[in-house]
Amino acid sequence: MKAIVFTKYGSPDVLQLKDVPKPTPKDNEILVRVRATPVNYGDLTARDFAHSPFNMPAPLYLPARMAFGWNKPKIQILGSELAGDVEAVGKSVTKFKPGDRVFAYVGMNMGANAEYICLPESGSVALKPANLDYAEAATLPYGAIMAVSLLQKAKLQVGHKILVNGASGGIGALAVQLARHHYGAEVTGVCGTPRLDYVKSLGAEKVIDYTRQDFTQNGETYDVIFDILGRVSFARAKKSLKPDGILLYASFKGRALLDMLWTALFSRQKVICALADEKVESLLLVKELAEEGKVNAVIDKRFPLEQVAEAHRYVEQGHKKGNVVIAMQQDSKA
Ligand SMILES: NC(=O)c1ccc[n+]([C@@H]2O[C@H](COP(=O)([O-])OP(=O)(O)OC[C@H]3O[C@@H](n4cnc5c(N)ncnc54)[C@H](OP(=O)(O)O)[C@@H]3O)[C@@H](O)[C@H]2O)c1
Repeated sequence: MKAIVFTKYGSPDVLQLKDVPKPTPKDNEILVRVRATPVNYGDLTARDFAHSPFNMPAPLYLPARMAFGWNKPKIQILGSELAGDVEAVGKSVTKFKPGDRVFAYVGMNMGANAEYICLPESGSVALKPANLDYAEAATLPYGAIMAVSLLQKAKLQVGHKILVNGASGGIGALAVQLARHHYGAEVTGVCGTPRLDYVKSLGAEKVIDYTRQDFTQNGETYDVIFDILGRVSFARAKKSLKPDGILLYASFKGRALLDMLWTALFSRQKVICALADEKVESLLLVKELAEEGKVNAVIDKRFPLEQVAEAHRYVEQGHKKGNVVIAMQQDSKA
């Protein structure tokens, strides 16, 4: 089968089209023919791990770098989310059958930049939303897994005001849609200039361009600030939080962990730093919301498998408005 393989860290040029053996499913696995896989934050980070910013506590850097490979990548095929067709199932698989159309999050194991991938049936894999094509469905699993799990920790209520700092990315786009259409919250999205309309189209009532305005200085207060990249400290954010508001981090350093401890003991305002639980229930919820028209997937550009490097360059240039997807069949709305 064809796959995009990289054997050293670096620029998009390290991504090479190669023939590799087609995998065979174990008893508990399904073999999926990949129809689409987006280029997301994880792909860019893993492709050049040594030079990518690390937005988590320093003690996690060592194990993460060891897991990805110190000097060269251990995992040589990128792609952490996908949509495709089940082609074969292992002997003990009961949840899926050949022909099922699925979407999945494979996380750090990656491997979706290939024509086929094997997934355990107990993993984060579910039937894809029936109303979305493969490319659209493929853009949802990572954001769904992260945003559903992390937002649950903020206990959003109908009418709450939430600001999503990083609203145009993989996690933020799902967070905006869930907050508005699932929780009934009033959403402000913060992103870069080219993506303001995109974030509005996802359901944000207000948008703020972080290159032009510092939201901590505009006098607004929120029940929840969801900071995706961990760009705002509690010291800066606290006057933008209601008296019992929550600063929820997807990315956090040691200082934020100390703020979490301090606020747990001494403050009505709280800081929450959390790692997402990878649960298939998050995919099932987002499938349901997509089928009800409450969650959408916006595709900016589709590239064929041979042009994965081009797709990475396009994302890195910072012009994308929505998702960039590797669609395995160039002609189709795969
Ligand atoms: N807690 C967990 O379990 C968990 C799991 C997975 C990932 N993460 C963390 O999540 C982060 C990646 O999130 P993602 O996949 O959503 O990333 P992404 O797709 O790259 O999106 C990043 C977002 O941040 C925005 N942004 C960039 N600079 C900003 C700034 N100075 N101020 C405000 N917003 C800014 C971007 O806006 P524009 O693009 O419009 O400029 C974009 O909306 C990583 O740091 C990773 O460590 C945490």
